[in-house]
Amino acid sequence: MQIITDRQELARLVTQWHRQGETIGVVPTMGSLHNGHLALVRALDGKVTRRIVTIYVNPIQFNNADDFRLYPRSPEADADLLRQTGIVDVLYTPDSQDMYPEHFSTQVTVSGADTILCGADRPGHFNGVTTIVTKLLMQTGADVAVFGEKDFQQLSIIRRMTEDLNFPVSVLSVPVVREADQLALSSRNRRLTAQQRRQAAQLPSLLLACIASMKHDQTEEDALATCRTKLTQAGFTVHYLELRSGETLKITAAADPSARLFVAASLEDIRLIDNMPLS
Ligand code: PAJ
Repeated sequence: MQIITDRQELARLVTQWHRQGETIGVVPTMGSLHNGHLALVRALDGKVTRRIVTIYVNPIQFNNADDFRLYPRSPEADADLLRQTGIVDVLYTPDSQDMYPEHFSTQVTVSGADTILCGADRPGHFNGVTTIVTKLLMQTGADVAVFGEKDFQQLSIIRRMTEDLNFPVSVLSVPVVREADQLALSSRNRRLTAQQRRQAAQLPSLLLACIASMKHDQTEEDALATCRTKLTQAGFTVHYLELRSGETLKITAAADPSARLFVAASLEDIRLIDNMPLS
């Protein structure tokens, strides 16, 4: 596995690969890698001949300076983990001066992305995501890019963007990878204390209970209200808890086969997100 920081060096390698008829898969990440990220790398099996993982903690997608500062970083462990897979050709770790030089002034916007769910909650966040993902897709020359359903809204927005702007890339997605107690793997979990980690496990179990009651004995509205109360009692600050279509992200009913439950909730300043399909 080569570690490349220089954009020009990556460009030379990618041009050479394409000339040789190779196909390139990319997994964009912000590091502090875990098995969720590795599942994305494995999703490229049989799809491409070369694999690039990018690690870059993208400052413009953080709407909170402390969140950016405290975002977990573990560059050596990340490189070791990727090397151990034996299937990653390049780890690309660009630096901020190269990504956002002094006169940088372009943003990629998917209209409406900032009005719902994490968009409403984190102003500017998705513009930061779409801008960096555009740059990373251009720089890596990716034929295939993989994203996780853990960040379901991000995945939908990236699909919309690549389709609208005719990016020559196929987007693959991977279901949420969870711990044994169902907590969704997340780099932010590393910031949880032992006590908070126990509390965090209540998030997926309350979502499952909410889904069960929507399917059996309660209206959507009542089930959501009960779940919200239980999350608050468990110590969470709930940012949103909503039932939406996985296809359009519009508010929907439990009978919709694409319905998913979406949540964002914090334990102190640690923000956790999750989503689950109803069926
Ligand atoms: P990051 O949070 O590091 O996540 C990188 C990719 O891993 C995303 O596509 C995310 O959905 C996926 N992922 C994270 N945890 C997962 C889990 N438990 N199961 C399945 N997939 C999981 O998302 C970002 O970084 C950034 O916004 C990025 C796209 C890199 C742009 O900066």
